[in-house]
Amino acid sequence: MRIQKLLLPMAVSAATLALSGQAMAETWKMALGDAAGGTQYELGTTFADIVEEKTGGEVTIDLFPNGQLGSEQDTVNNASMGLLDLSVLAINNITPFSPTVGVLTLPYVIQSPEDAKTLTQGEIAEELTQNTIRDAGVRILGWAYSGCRRLTNSARPVASPEDLDGLNIRVPKNEIMIAAYQAWGVNPAPLAWSETFTALQQGVVDGQDNPYITIDTMKFYEVQDHVTDSCYVFSLQPLIISEGKFQSLSPEMQEIVLEAGQEATSHSYDFLLESEEAIKKRLVEEHGMQITEPANDEQQWIEMATGIWPEFYDSIGGKEKLDQALEALGRDPAPQS
Ligand code: MLT
Repeated sequence: MRIQKLLLPMAVSAATLALSGQAMAETWKMALGDAAGGTQYELGTTFADIVEEKTGGEVTIDLFPNGQLGSEQDTVNNASMGLLDLSVLAINNITPFSPTVGVLTLPYVIQSPEDAKTLTQGEIAEELTQNTIRDAGVRILGWAYSGCRRLTNSARPVASPEDLDGLNIRVPKNEIMIAAYQAWGVNPAPLAWSETFTALQQGVVDGQDNPYITIDTMKFYEVQDHVTDSCYVFSLQPLIISEGKFQSLSPEMQEIVLEAGQEATSHSYDFLLESEEAIKKRLVEEHGMQITEPANDEQQWIEMATGIWPEFYDSIGGKEKLDQALEALGRDPAPQS
């Protein structure tokens, strides 16, 4: 069963099937910040297929990739106001609306897919979901796992933070990520995701960071030659639903979307493990990207960037929130402010 997707004119959401209890076919809109083909798309299509199957075709979901429905941060606003049903976007673009989620984007907290799974599928994730409902009016239904964010640039190999000197690096409009680059000695350029490819292409910025899968999906290899095999933030891409929309659904329909979110999340995890290495290889062999290992096992990057953690204890809800996450990952508590 395939979902309808792409390039359809924006339709006003149909009245809810759930409220009336009548089996009235309807179509929901899902925004994707990335192009078709990556982890956002895998999560989105899997979710859409499951919902369509479980509702016997009563609900279909149209996907709008490539930021067609606005920047990732716009889609949070729109979902919150009930103008959009669903969106898949990078977690760092939710943090400005719900700062406690920042615990997942503090540099070097999540260091592997297993760490990402631990923090997104347990009690910590449940609390963050409740916080996004309270703060941003959106509910996290599932997660796409895209892998570590790798620094790319068009100028030269970058192995240590000093190599960044003179490079203009794009970052999301996210205070934590901006502070990480400042700790490495540069002032990055905060830019919306939807403007990033053009800015790289026109040389407005020299570099950016995103996972291998995203570098491939977004064809960044056309405008970037160098990749640093770093892992300062793990890219998580939640699937969110407008809380107003969710509350308008019948209990049965709510159950369907919650289950579909969980099943799509499991699929996304497997997809990352199965595809990331092959994509990395293809970026080198087919697209000529040059991969540089961070100097000294990334120690200098880690020491400088983790120094910003205390600046964000208040916004994430207190140092204890970070300590809970670190404990769940089997690590020592964070330093005091
Ligand atoms: C960003 O860099 O803004 C995000 O990682 C984009 C994305 O959703 O992949």
